[in-house]
Amino acid sequence: MSTELPESAVPPPTGAGESSPAPTRRTFIATSTAVGGAVVAGGVIGGTSFIGPEEATAADGPPSSRVSLTVNGTRRTVTADNRTSLLDLLREHFGLTGSKKGCNAGACGACTVLVDGHRVNACLTLAVRLEGTEVTTIEGLATRGELHPLQQAFIDEDAFQCGYCTPGQILSGVGCIQEGHTDSPEEIREWMSGNICRCGCYVKIVRAVESTAGRK
Ligand code: FES
Ligand code: FES
Repeated sequence: MSTELPESAVPPPTGAGESSPAPTRRTFIATSTAVGGAVVAGGVIGGTSFIGPEEATAADGPPSSRVSLTVNGTRRTVTADNRTSLLDLLREHFGLTGSKKGCNAGACGACTVLVDGHRVNACLTLAVRLEGTEVTTIEGLATRGELHPLQQAFIDEDAFQCGYCTPGQILSGVGCIQEGHTDSPEEIREWMSGNICRCGCYVKIVRAVESTAGRK
């Protein structure tokens, strides 16, 4: 069987005369922290224009339910398969890919979002049970173009490497601060222990949460 890619799947060649400056690690970090990856913003703006904020159909076929919820300040009504997780609803139906899928089993925290101000693992939360709730994802943290203080602190502290866990870490950190579990680095570690960082950036993550909590 041929494994050749169809012509349309082959990326166009780069022009010999073209050159683009390679992003520095710091510019990558700044972009990644702002919206959980620049791809996120592109996905939201360019990938979901066909999904109106008022109504969208998430999945065909029973069993399904209609649910209305507010995501990052925008009211959305959707008919979703009853088995759809909040994470899949956000990523696959609303184009909000900042929330990451790691284990998809509640063990890594990469999918952490806020529901009515409380941190949840979106991969374990059924979307159809969220009627009337307010969901905040990494895309909704910045206000009027200004980063949330914890997003800024992650940049200032250089609190990540690959960035995959970062959106979940930041949402969890926001929850941790709101809950008041920030009296010591040990307490922050305990209450952030559900968020795994394979790059091992824990010291800097704790420092970012601690410095942000201190500015409250
Ligand atoms: S993807 Fe949800 S906890 Fe790992
Ligand atoms: S920065 Fe790579 S997993 Fe946390």
